[in-house]
Amino acid sequence: MSSKRSFLKQFWKEKKMVGSMTPSSRFLASKMLENVDFSSSRVVIELGPGTGVFTEKIIEKLHPEARLLVFELNDLFFDALSKKIIDPRVILIHDSAEKISEHLKLNGLNSADVVISSLPLANFPEDLKDHILESAYNSLESGGKYIQFQYSLMSKKNLEKVFGKVSIAFTPLNFPPAFVYTCQRNEN
Ligand SMILES: C[S@@+](CC[C@H](N)C(=O)[O-])C[C@H]1O[C@@H](n2cnc3c(N)ncnc32)[C@H](O)[C@@H]1O
Repeated sequence: MSSKRSFLKQFWKEKKMVGSMTPSSRFLASKMLENVDFSSSRVVIELGPGTGVFTEKIIEKLHPEARLLVFELNDLFFDALSKKIIDPRVILIHDSAEKISEHLKLNGLNSADVVISSLPLANFPEDLKDHILESAYNSLESGGKYIQFQYSLMSKKNLEKVFGKVSIAFTPLNFPPAFVYTCQRNEN
């Protein structure tokens, strides 16, 4: 099944969790990754890879000694990714984004340099949204980045509550057009 068809099928099955009818564009993928310094990042986390549009781009840029932890909750997306992504640097995790710290520890890692998230935050209840954002903040190195796309500005206040300053870029070259939020864990 093509990525577009499998995405649409999962959207009808689990609208709130999947959050979009179609995978993101390569333009949005480039926008999400343009401010990540892959040469110095050794632990990268991706939340909500879906059919892997961003995962494949991240792998192209990933440092040879880096680890990429990928969290996907949907069964079908997880199974398809497990067949598609064969790279010793990548750890695919069939679990919720709330459990970042637990999986860092299980893999002998302390913290992450960057978290790249496609989670449909605007569809989540407030407590789940806050819990995931706090878990991401706590898993980051001081100065580490959290990059998130959304189709609206609805979750801006949740990101500001956890990270303080949030910068926002916009790309019309996606369906639907998307906002890219970039946040940073405070430097010690
Ligand atoms: C809007 S889609 C983005 C997919 C892909 N990154 C893209 O941009 O085309 C959101 C993804 O987040 C996943 N997801 C939703 N809640 C999650 C959670 N709590 N933990 C991990 N993944 C989750 C969904 O299954 C889906 O794959």
